[in-house]
Amino acid sequence: MNYFKLVILGIVALVAAMGMNWGHDLAYKVHAFIIMAVAAGMFFWVLRRIDEPVPVPEVGYADGVIRAGVIATAFWGVIGFLVGTFIAFQLAFPELNFDWGQPFTNFGRLRPLHTSAVIFAFGGNALICTSFYVVQRTSAVRLFGGNLSWFVFWGYQLFIVLAATGYLLGATQSKEYAEPEWYTDIWLTIVWLAYLAVFFGTIVRRRERHIYVANWFYLSFIITVAMLHLVNNLSIPVSFWGSKSVQLFAGVQDAMTQWWYGHNAVGFFLTAGFLGMMYYFVPKQANRPIYSYKLSIIHFWSLIFLYIWAGPHHLHYTALPDWAATLGMVFSIVLWMPSWGGMINGLMTLQGAWDKLRTDPILRMFVISLGFYGMSTFEGPMMSIRAVNSLSHYTDWTIGHVHSGALGWNGMITFGALYFLTPKLWGREQMYSMPAINWHFWLATIGIVLYASSMWVTGIMEGLMWREVDDQGFLVNSFADTVAAKFPMYVVRGLGGVLYLSGGLIMVWNMWMTIRGAKPATTSLPAPPSPSNATPAE
Ligand code: HEM
Ligand code: HEM
Repeated sequence: MNYFKLVILGIVALVAAMGMNWGHDLAYKVHAFIIMAVAAGMFFWVLRRIDEPVPVPEVGYADGVIRAGVIATAFWGVIGFLVGTFIAFQLAFPELNFDWGQPFTNFGRLRPLHTSAVIFAFGGNALICTSFYVVQRTSAVRLFGGNLSWFVFWGYQLFIVLAATGYLLGATQSKEYAEPEWYTDIWLTIVWLAYLAVFFGTIVRRRERHIYVANWFYLSFIITVAMLHLVNNLSIPVSFWGSKSVQLFAGVQDAMTQWWYGHNAVGFFLTAGFLGMMYYFVPKQANRPIYSYKLSIIHFWSLIFLYIWAGPHHLHYTALPDWAATLGMVFSIVLWMPSWGGMINGLMTLQGAWDKLRTDPILRMFVISLGFYGMSTFEGPMMSIRAVNSLSHYTDWTIGHVHSGALGWNGMITFGALYFLTPKLWGREQMYSMPAINWHFWLATIGIVLYASSMWVTGIMEGLMWREVDDQGFLVNSFADTVAAKFPMYVVRGLGGVLYLSGGLIMVWNMWMTIRGAKPATTSLPAPPSPSNATPAE
């Protein structure tokens, strides 16, 4: 096996070295260098250990990879918030597009760096590590595939590095949230299939009869993202030695494929996967069973059935046929119901435990995240109505909607999960400082309020200004007028970002203090359940 690994790593390093030499563009050459360095480093690592005795397989839950995932989530989160705050100030103060940094640090290149850092690096690592935690605890078995889970972790970090450096160096296929070029996409496909194998293999080997509902959500997220990624990235490279590729679809078909992908990235990456987190961590933290198991099943099937059709609401008033846009609008409105079903199921889990909100800041984070989930899934269906979208589209209202979902729902639930996991994985009673969690909670909450409210005001204002006509039918405002009018709100949004980022830094300090000096905890597997006491959750 080791010799086989050596051959593969050697070939990869060699081809990458050729890519460095013959590459047509800077991004490709830099990526070839990174791949060569990684493959060569691993080659020597495997070579040095070739005669060492095979280590005894570990027993108990595979928590090492989850510990790494927890650290990676916090690390990428801070990077993503930092870049977000910087680009927010770039929009308010264009001088921050420094001449000396051109073209690498202009808004156009940093923006996809921000969106990918927060969605795929922060959110993706959170999803991978929590899914590995949840699937083991609810299936009562160790992760399937031995070191394959480590391959998923490191392979995913390599994908993030390739994507991020690619944006800065100008390699993009110009599809929002799917910017990386063909070879990065191929690498992600390999890593994602390995992820599916680890997750699904663990479920297949489970010792609990039930598949707990959180695992259904995680599984639908993993499978659907694989499908979306494959279809939306169908492209032909112009040359094997260059980063540029040409999309297989063209015109309105390309737009529809892109927004079928884009909307379902929201639906399955930012929603279904995070609902998997919700269904495990909220009941655990509240120490109560989920409010209704039946509702969770209805929630699951209706959510995944409806989301997949809603993409066309991103393409109102375009070359897309009207019937398709109407279809997307109708499915989006209906989507409100299962979304709120899920929120209610989460919130009602606290029935009889509401008093804990006074004393438990982690639970408070979960509850506010559900509140923002409810808010953005009410706002989304409303914005998908054609008449409303004619005002909101292209404006900062969309940006406000995005961030009430992203900062409020995805951010807060992830912080809660990190606070839940850190003491458990490093064998501590609780986080180092509970008051610091409280500080984080308030800084993040006020940050979101500043962000979302300033974007709602500026979005509706600019939408109305664009529409305003005088009694002769001429437009009253030029585009530059609307940009100037937005300035104060852009500063407020930037300050919101500073607060949110500060909360994130406090969390990192708190995690560091908790982890410092602690011995990693090893948790053994529970005894096999007898049929009489089998429960779906841990
Ligand atoms: C400190 C916190 C954050 C700040 C200050 C911030 C700021 C920004 C800014 C200025 C933009 C560009 C808006 C524009 O082009 O007009 C943006 C876009 C975006 N951000 Fe953030 N962001 C933050 C956190 C997050 C998080 C945590 C997520 C997701 C989990 C996220 C997801 C996005 C997305 C998806 C977009 C693209 C929106 C669109 O194209 O409609 N952001 N962000
Ligand atoms: C029932 C649920 C939801 C519906 C029906 C919905 C609907 C919409 C609509 C109509 C838009 C504006 C499209 C446009 O004018 O271009 C939009 C944008 C967006 N929404 Fe939602 N939304 C929902 C929930 C969420 C949640 C929970 C999140 C985040 C966690 C989210 C993230 C986004 C993002 C990132 C965009 C910007 C896409 C872009 O780059 O243009 N949405 N959504």
